[in-house]
Amino acid sequence: MNIQWYPGHMTKARRMMQENIKLIDIVIELLDARTPISSRNPDIDTLANNKFRLVILNKSDLADAKANDEWKEYFNKQGINVVTINAKSGDGMKNITALVQESCKEKIERDRKRGIINRPIRAMIVGIPNVGKSTFINSYAKKACTKVGNKPGVTKGKQWIKINKNVELLDTPGILWPKFDDEEVGKRLAFIGSINDDILPKVELSCELIDFLKNNYLGILSNRYNVNEDNESSEILHEIATNRGCIMKGSEIDYEKAASILLDEYRNGVLGRITLERP
Ligand code: G4P
Repeated sequence: MNIQWYPGHMTKARRMMQENIKLIDIVIELLDARTPISSRNPDIDTLANNKFRLVILNKSDLADAKANDEWKEYFNKQGINVVTINAKSGDGMKNITALVQESCKEKIERDRKRGIINRPIRAMIVGIPNVGKSTFINSYAKKACTKVGNKPGVTKGKQWIKINKNVELLDTPGILWPKFDDEEVGKRLAFIGSINDDILPKVELSCELIDFLKNNYLGILSNRYNVNEDNESSEILHEIATNRGCIMKGSEIDYEKAASILLDEYRNGVLGRITLERP
């Protein structure tokens, strides 16, 4: 991963989460809409035990619109509030506060019965690296801009962003580890660019992506790269390389470069809105 998840990092992440979770009412879990399960922390249910929850499917602009609906239904069926957004453009962000309140309605009611009115809900963003946590916090906080700072009774140094009178957000997100023991999960995370490219076999990875696209989004590769989708993935990569002029000195084909083009264009949405896994 961008952060190499050796056990020391995991222990630190878990400790930070355990420390911060005491301060908050609701865990806002950011997932990548293109691969919601693979971009989910495997231990989130244990880590966020007893807290209210909201799932946000971010980068929904890069995911298949129909699949976005299927995923929303999937989480709703589990009784989890869910919303699709584009944190970069701000699409879908205006519903967040209402959903946070809706997700915490039991707490609001409990407070009301005790005569506590308008106590802000405290929230924390969590997610694996690169899922868009910083972009989300910046976008959500844009109108707010008031850092509440240290509060009595709150661990020293914690910064809260007052979004409005109803919601306060912890300004540092919880960075969680993905599920790395599953090869398919690793592959999907590599496709979306969540794993540091330097440590990846790019050519192999791009051939896997070609196979996925051929099987699930027929026509995308031929439209974009003018290749024959009946061919094997390695031949298709060869065609992409020649059509895109990926040639090294001595007229040798530069497969690495062709693989980078394909992966970058997938990650940036140039190939269209493509979801990697379905409920
Ligand atoms: P993190 O804190 O969880 O690690 O993620 P971060 O916010 O840094 O976002 C990672 C990348 O994802 C950034 O791109 C960001 O712009 C992009 N991103 C975040 N949300 C969305 C979204 O909803 N849609 C799309 N299409 N992209 C999103 P980058 O290439 O690292 O930076 P930049 O060139 O975009 O600034």
